[in-house]
Amino acid sequence: MIQKTPQEIALIKKACEITRDALIHAKSLIREGISTFDIDKSIEKFIIDSGGQTPCKGYMGYPSASCISVNNTIVHGIPSKDIILKNGDIVSVDIVASYKGYCGDATRTYFVGEVSDEVKKLVRVTKECFFKGIENARVGDHIGKISHAIQQHAESNGFSVVRELCGHGIGKKMHEPPEVLNYGKETGGAVIKENMTIAIEPMINMGKKEIALLPDDWTVVTRDGKPSAHYENTVLFTTRGVEVLTLESDDEYYSR
Ligand code: MF3
Ligand code: CO
Repeated sequence: MIQKTPQEIALIKKACEITRDALIHAKSLIREGISTFDIDKSIEKFIIDSGGQTPCKGYMGYPSASCISVNNTIVHGIPSKDIILKNGDIVSVDIVASYKGYCGDATRTYFVGEVSDEVKKLVRVTKECFFKGIENARVGDHIGKISHAIQQHAESNGFSVVRELCGHGIGKKMHEPPEVLNYGKETGGAVIKENMTIAIEPMINMGKKEIALLPDDWTVVTRDGKPSAHYENTVLFTTRGVEVLTLESDDEYYSR
């Protein structure tokens, strides 16, 4: 169901706390020389030790607990012993944790050592896209209000929006209706309902918007080879506003 019951919301909130804490844990591991495989294994252990589960593992044959996407990889990077982080990389860590059958989904793009100012701007603007997206959206609006604000902010900063991938409703399944596009008209998409939980996830390219799929059938990269950033939170809409369920405690808490 698109609208969640109070019991469901309580479980989604718990899943989101585990997701957020797993991201904070992942951030602490990011350094030059570590493989994305080792980061993933540690994320998996963290989630299990926290009483959660890892629904990505086995999802349509996906082999890992998390998706870890470096530089020109947009999303769905498969953790690998051969992918070793180096100074100047950006690394997007995308985690879904579930708790008693309900999911939380969030992504952060982290820096490895010193990154260029241009890349810093890309990561900053991608995060800002998320907050611009929720700033004016409320129950009764179309999802397009979020989509339009994301596209506007990305493009006005000279970046481009990936079209082939989008955010989604979330609950018992990690991907539920409605779709949450990162581009489009304010009047597009489903109407936002009370007690709806959705994952909003701008994927923003420094260069052109076009993508390519690697032969592993998962890894999505930029066609032009330029970097891409990703920022995602699970949010809850109520008549009081929007609650971001996967924010770090030291980050701004957003609710109206
Ligand atoms: N976490 C991704 C999302 O944001 C989906 C993960 S795909 C999987 O929607 F195969 F890893 F599960
Ligand atoms: Co998602």
